[in-house]
Amino acid sequence: MKKPLIILGIETSCDETAAAVYHQKKGILSNVFFSQIEIHKHFGGVIPEIASRSHLEKIHPIVQAGLDKAQVTLNDIDVIAVTNKPGLPGSLLIGVCFAKTIAWATHKKIIGINHLEGHAFSSFLENSVPFPHLCITASGGHTSLYLIKGFGDYEVLGETRDDAAGEAFDKIAKLINLPYPGGPIIEKLAHAVNYQDFFKYPRGKIKNLDFSFSGLKTAVLYDLINAGNYDMNAKKLLNTSLELKQQVASSLLVCIADIFQKKIAQAFVQYPHVKAVTFVGGVACNKYITSRLRMFCEKQNRLFFSPSAQYCTDNAAMIAFVGSYKAEQGLYSDWNLDILE
Ligand code: KG4
Ligand code: ZN
Repeated sequence: MKKPLIILGIETSCDETAAAVYHQKKGILSNVFFSQIEIHKHFGGVIPEIASRSHLEKIHPIVQAGLDKAQVTLNDIDVIAVTNKPGLPGSLLIGVCFAKTIAWATHKKIIGINHLEGHAFSSFLENSVPFPHLCITASGGHTSLYLIKGFGDYEVLGETRDDAAGEAFDKIAKLINLPYPGGPIIEKLAHAVNYQDFFKYPRGKIKNLDFSFSGLKTAVLYDLINAGNYDMNAKKLLNTSLELKQQVASSLLVCIADIFQKKIAQAFVQYPHVKAVTFVGGVACNKYITSRLRMFCEKQNRLFFSPSAQYCTDNAAMIAFVGSYKAEQGLYSDWNLDILE
């Protein structure tokens, strides 16, 4: 019988330095990361130069922690899988250079992984999802709808034309004086008012399976201005009451959940043979959206999967998993492996 491979995954595409070890028989042996949220919080978003400096400091201890936690050494590793696209160039370079160096020095094989393919297959870390299925990937940088036909075999059905869903949460949070990242705090505020739709923001007019979230940000802004709650010239929120923040947060959350549900409904009509839906990426940490989509899919007789929070946000476990099936498919990279923004 063929010996199962052990894959070391490395992820540094944005603001998380992450490492994981995946065993083809035993599954995930470790999944560790250092989050830079506390560093970037003061700036209201990720500062690329600061991100790459932090990756440089953390990459070695994090990879070592990933190996230690899995109770393996570099000698036990067969393949190194590293995110090489898309992402912040300086951040990607740290991961790719580190991975290439240790792979070269210890005679390991290396595979460059698309971060979005990592998210798209992250549901497999905890579940076996039947093919074909739909996948919504929603994070701070991306929002896409995929038709997933097999491992590494997928088609983009729709993408955001402007902002990502997570970006909408982050930008609108900033507008109403909430800290970065916006998603978790918006969820908390919305929960307090029982997810009511106070302002009925527009759900978008796009007819195909693409998304658009920048209009939503503008709609929220004009709503605030028209109600005398925001001073456009001073770029300042005038009404800083908790009540207003809860109402905006709740209306926004319901609106985004509606948009996702509508796209899935539309995709079911166009692709009636899909057996399941997966919802992944940082925004999939949101319990309200996840439970709405789960209920909808179950009513439509489709299975629904969403990874636990540690595999929704950026992580190296999903990178190691994609590395695992790419190794099976013989899709190794060579030493010319480079980054792509
Ligand atoms: O996947 P991720 O960790 O990083 C990117 O690749 O962008 O996603 C981060 C995004 C942020 O925009 C954040 O606001 C959003 O995920 N997010 C959430 C929640 N937790 C994180 N959005 C909605 N609800 C949440 N609970
Ligand atoms: Zn991501």
